[in-house]
Amino acid sequence: MTIRFVTSNAGKVREAREYLDDDVEQINYDYTEVQSDDLGEIAVTGAKEAFAETGGDDPVVVDDAGLFVDALGGFPGPYSSYVEDTVGVERVWNLVEREENRRAHFRCVVAYYDGETAETFDGAVPGRIVAPRGEGGFGYDPIFEHEGETMAEMSTERKNAISHRGRALAKFADWLTEN
Ligand code: IMP
Repeated sequence: MTIRFVTSNAGKVREAREYLDDDVEQINYDYTEVQSDDLGEIAVTGAKEAFAETGGDDPVVVDDAGLFVDALGGFPGPYSSYVEDTVGVERVWNLVEREENRRAHFRCVVAYYDGETAETFDGAVPGRIVAPRGEGGFGYDPIFEHEGETMAEMSTERKNAISHRGRALAKFADWLTEN
């Protein structure tokens, strides 16, 4: 079986290959991101649309991730990518810097759809929002600290080992093996 990973990001496909025994193929299909505060709903809707529109038989996988800041009621959450492009990471830090509670988490949902069965797999990593540090990673990594290091200060191996996406992919891999 081949898993068709719907993304324009080759890095995600490489990461998925590290977890899955099956072949993973990248599909560049721009699915509709429905407006919802639920990552699972966004990912499942995207997976069903991609399956219907790309005309293959093999199962498709879509993942959706975001940063959820407690003091901001979960913002930017599902809008993380849009907020990164518009507000910017530095100013998300400015929104949080006067707050006493700086707790946050990254969440990722991996959605699988094979034409009949839809399943979601969730991964999260807890941390707190700090002033930007570090040169690595992408997105909100410089302002997200986990166990003393920002994600931008971690090695790629360390980040993958603790990341929300890694945790969701590990659950997905277990489920694939069992089924
Ligand atoms: P995506 O759904 O994985 O494309 O992620 C959506 C947005 O969430 C990205 O554009 C980033 O702004 C943010 N994000 C997701 N995962 C990470 C991460 O591991 N580090 C930093 N930012 C992330």
